[in-house]
Amino acid sequence: MNPSNKIPVLTIDGPAGSGKGTVGQIVAACLGWHYLDSGALYRVLAVAMQQVGCRPTDGARLAGLVESLDIRFETRTDGEPAHVRLAGVDVTAAVRSEACGRLASEIAAQPAVRAALLLKQRAFRRPPGLVADGRDMGTTVFPDAVVKIFLTASPEIRAERRYKQLKQKGFDDNLEKLTGEIRERDRRDAERAASPLTPAADADTLDTSRMTIAEVVESILARLRSRSAY
Ligand code: CDP
Repeated sequence: MNPSNKIPVLTIDGPAGSGKGTVGQIVAACLGWHYLDSGALYRVLAVAMQQVGCRPTDGARLAGLVESLDIRFETRTDGEPAHVRLAGVDVTAAVRSEACGRLASEIAAQPAVRAALLLKQRAFRRPPGLVADGRDMGTTVFPDAVVKIFLTASPEIRAERRYKQLKQKGFDDNLEKLTGEIRERDRRDAERAASPLTPAADADTLDTSRMTIAEVVESILARLRSRSAY
């Protein structure tokens, strides 16, 4: 048996704007565990793709690009997404735009890209534990996770949350346009053949529409406590 399989993993999957990133980083900090923002890997790959002028449908070339990616994360607990460096350059602002989210979702539909990123994601599993957020953490990347959470919220609330986040970062998005883009991205993520966005059979679904961040964090930690000694 691979010794890394003994390292506990808590997975948080869900659609855009469900709160995975904010909640995941706080849960990881509370536990003193590592944190993986898997979506950021897809987003950074989208930035790298634009830098080298590759097409989003060129799965083989994108998979090759994954091997040469030099990514560094700086996890935050202030509600901000992790800061990201690509080959030493801070690309945090570029990766957070909704345009980059759309490109990330397009390349994420390529099976060759998902296969190439699999080992990179599993390498984040280091002692004492890992909190991993994304779309397929509980179904494909860490199927043996000790607790699997699927976060949801109504599409309107998710679009509003994303609108506020983007506005704070200086992006001038329009709420109606953003709602349409998020719906389109959810549809593509849920309908793709390779690791679609869907709860694992053994996941707990949490609707966060009417919950505060602190309530979501506490509810996840309570589930972990009830299922293990952490
Ligand atoms: O923050 P948000 O939920 O909007 O997006 P994200 O987690 O940064 O992910 C961006 C895109 O990457 C998603 O729309 C998915 O298409 C893709 N993704 C994926 O396919 N699998 C993952 N584990 C994480 C992200």
